[in-house]
Amino acid sequence: MSRTVVRGGLVITAAEEVHADVLVEGGRIAALASHDSEFAQSWTTSADRVIDATGKYVIPGGVDAHTHMELPFGGTFASDTFETGTRAAAWGGTTTIVDFAVQSVGESLRSGLDTWHAKADAKCAIDYGFHMILADVNEDTLKEMDVLVEEGVTSFKLFMAYPGVFYSDDGKILRAMQRGAANGGLIMMHAENGIAIDVLVEQALAAGRTDPRYHGEVRHALLEAEATHRAIALAQVAGSPLYVVHVSAQQAVEELAAARDKGLNVFGETCPQYLFLSTDNLAEPDFEGAKYVCSTPLRPKEHQEFLWRGLRTNDLQVVSTDHCPFCFNGQKDLGRGDFSKIPNGLPGVENRMDLLHQAVVEGRISRRRWIEIACAAPARMFGLYPRKGTIAPGADADIVIYDPHTEQVISAETHHMNVDYSAYEGKRVTGRVETVLSRGEPVILDREYEGRAGHGQYTPRGTCQYLI
Ligand code: URP
Ligand code: ZN
Ligand code: ZN
Repeated sequence: MSRTVVRGGLVITAAEEVHADVLVEGGRIAALASHDSEFAQSWTTSADRVIDATGKYVIPGGVDAHTHMELPFGGTFASDTFETGTRAAAWGGTTTIVDFAVQSVGESLRSGLDTWHAKADAKCAIDYGFHMILADVNEDTLKEMDVLVEEGVTSFKLFMAYPGVFYSDDGKILRAMQRGAANGGLIMMHAENGIAIDVLVEQALAAGRTDPRYHGEVRHALLEAEATHRAIALAQVAGSPLYVVHVSAQQAVEELAAARDKGLNVFGETCPQYLFLSTDNLAEPDFEGAKYVCSTPLRPKEHQEFLWRGLRTNDLQVVSTDHCPFCFNGQKDLGRGDFSKIPNGLPGVENRMDLLHQAVVEGRISRRRWIEIACAAPARMFGLYPRKGTIAPGADADIVIYDPHTEQVISAETHHMNVDYSAYEGKRVTGRVETVLSRGEPVILDREYEGRAGHGQYTPRGTCQYLI
């Protein structure tokens, strides 16, 4: 059994910070011991590999619980495959993704899941699991939910947006929530009032308002808040927990906070794009705003403070990327002259850990909260903890050596995502991933790629660990 020692670093988990050496055996964390202890010194002499982390952070690999590799959308496909997207994730310090398998209308959940396995299996550089997008709620698919939960696909995304594509009406949502309440599945909600938004889209286009910035205007913050409120009420009636994805509006955070104050099992996720970008980006001239078209949309800058506050107060628990890249040339430009035809989604799987570390540098969150919202909480939320999301004996040795001092400039010229632009082009951040281990195997070693497609294993999940 191969032995690796990570020595001399500051180990940071959601719970504590401790100067310790970490012993890895057979892909798992075997023990932690004080750097000066006899234990740690004996490990170093007998190890097959010693990684020096002096002056660095030793953190759990990131868990990105919201990605869309190769998602079909608006007549095209998200440009990262599981191979390119998971490689880029590793470069950014993420060692587990949970991607969304898609059930299309008329199809079974099984067939959608099989399609996603065919895309991902033997391609990934890091471990991966699946949520299921439930686009067609009916008697058969409700029954299939039970089977999927047993098999480790324990969360189901429903859409209050995109009528005619993924949309479910309130009756279907209620039925799926009732089923989730019974079988332990967690309902994840895209909370935007898609019926009202479609009216506003039609009116905007008829009035000649076709530029990308109108994408943000028609997808009004109140239509996110209203849908969030409705989803919470439906979940309460069904007696089910609820996880609201990609929260962007102040008013939606307030709905979540009010529900949590009532003691409801309601959870919320936001994404780096809502914390760092705004409608100013959507309004960039020469169609550049299309690079920032996603749903929920970017909001005016004032909303950001409420998202940061929600992350500090735990009204929001998770930061995922909603990584869904489309190239500017050839994909985003499908919507020139009609913003509603711009494929929705932003790249970001490689940037999340660094951007959140930048928030640590700027004093917005603590180091432990960084690890909590990016590693531990998503692992707990989606039934992966403590195998993923922490550094503790018995956990998978998914370990990142993070250099907190080196500056970098985010750019499409240096990133590894398969997309021709960066949403954070030119942004200077302090901190950089140096080495990444996935189950003890180096994927990145001293900033050289050592990974391989197929190393990543499919990881069935348990149910949400925030529920009793
Ligand atoms: O714009 C987005 N978010 N694209 C991906 C699909 C979704 O709704 O998460
Ligand atoms: Zn969504
Ligand atoms: Zn998404």
